[in-house]
Amino acid sequence: MHEAKAGETRSETRAPESGAELGEFADQEFVPIQLTVNGRRVRQLVEARLLLSDFLRGTLGLTGTHVGCEHGVCGACTVMVDGVSARSCLMLAAQTDGCTVQTVEGLGSMQAMSPLQQAFQQCHGLQCGFCTPGMLITATDMLANDHPADEAAVREGLSGNLCRCTGYQHIVQAVMQVAMQGDAVASKGAVNAAVNEVQS
Ligand code: FES
Ligand code: FES
Repeated sequence: MHEAKAGETRSETRAPESGAELGEFADQEFVPIQLTVNGRRVRQLVEARLLLSDFLRGTLGLTGTHVGCEHGVCGACTVMVDGVSARSCLMLAAQTDGCTVQTVEGLGSMQAMSPLQQAFQQCHGLQCGFCTPGMLITATDMLANDHPADEAAVREGLSGNLCRCTGYQHIVQAVMQVAMQGDAVASKGAVNAAVNEVQS
């Protein structure tokens, strides 16, 4: 798995102290990259110093990824890089060479929303919507990888994403709704497996 350093949001690097650094790309003006974005293969020559957030929004037109603070604090720019949520304002596009990136546009569509997007709609988990893409990506990562057991775990998981409309209560409710559905699906699967074992 790709080990995202700058920009990674989960546990150990949730609040990075520094932004994207040119590092290995310092002596290059342009860098060729190939990656998969929302299931689509992308090949592009990018400026070595181009941020992932600017690449997604400006080059690929994926403006669902929002940019707020631009220094890793607000979480609005959160995307998934190789299955792990990351601050796209703290990563260089060049760092995603060979990676799989998922933005909010890749979670679902108006016609086929993901269970989490449906829960946000049902629970009124947004007001102005500026923080919503980052919240959805962070919560998708949390539900898939951390399996939050209770409301406190959900709140902890979302603590790196700021909502200026103070809509946290409904956002947490939406995530809890999907977390509980996941538990129900998992328990149903376990019961079915046990029944099949008894019958065989
Ligand atoms: S814009 Fe990236 S964390 Fe705020
Ligand atoms: S809904 Fe407005 S910033 Fe969160």
